[in-house]
Amino acid sequence: MEKQALVDMLNRDLADEHAAIIRYLIHGYVEGESTPLGSSLVSISREEMWHMHWLGMIIGTLEGEPNFTPAPYPYDPTSRATILRSYIEYEEKLIPHYNGEADKVDDPHIRRVLQREAWESAIHARKFQRRLDKLSPEEAAGSPGGGGELPGEFLDTLQAEVTSKYTEMLQHIRTSWVFQQDETMGWKIMDQAMEKMKQLAHFAENIAEDGVAPRFKPGLIDKSHTVGLALGKALEDVQASRERHARLREDREVKKHSGLIINLDLAIQQEEYQGAELEDWHKGR
Ligand SMILES: [Fe+2]
Ligand SMILES: [Fe+2]
Repeated sequence: MEKQALVDMLNRDLADEHAAIIRYLIHGYVEGESTPLGSSLVSISREEMWHMHWLGMIIGTLEGEPNFTPAPYPYDPTSRATILRSYIEYEEKLIPHYNGEADKVDDPHIRRVLQREAWESAIHARKFQRRLDKLSPEEAAGSPGGGGELPGEFLDTLQAEVTSKYTEMLQHIRTSWVFQQDETMGWKIMDQAMEKMKQLAHFAENIAEDGVAPRFKPGLIDKSHTVGLALGKALEDVQASRERHARLREDREVKKHSGLIINLDLAIQQEEYQGAELEDWHKGR
């Protein structure tokens, strides 16, 4: 298969894996991680993150530009039962899809990754079937979410923080994939990306606790052609984020949520740390 065609094919898969991550994560958060369905969804979402990561690493090796626009994830939102049936259908369709792609590829690593995406999709379908079978009739007929006690403006602020930290995280993941030949830097940046994932989860959990679906819509991803430019952009982003969080810390509505205050204090210190590290890495590049 010609290199660009291979990159395009893998980028379409990347967008599908990205869609699955978001769907299961949002649903898992809204159910609550302390519920069997919620924890199972978040766990499967983490496996989809690995799926996306393997594809992204391959795209980076092939000197391709990763596509960070998630594909649509079609599902019937009528009830938990219809939602889970949609997930089973989605995962089952991926089995022949990935096996078919693997047959077209010669590279043994890429073949194995595509075959693995197929057999792990089969496992996901089985896990969703098991969760569906274990739902009580009331749970099966009901749907996740509802509630909504937080003031609208405050909710919008939290949603904006999810978007912003999500974009910063994707930007770091892109840097670590695209500049992976600079191995040490790739690792350091991926480490910061994981911290951003945790930070964005804090905001998303506050939204989901209110019964509202957190919005995972990535902002614009910068496509810097050198690692120096990418690090400079990352430094600007984290500094802007730190300043915004310091202001948010003093907000009257925020002060009513002690858990959020602790997480903001943590995020502000982590952002100072990340900024100082990025400043050092940026020197001489
Ligand atoms: Fe997957
Ligand atoms: Fe899956």
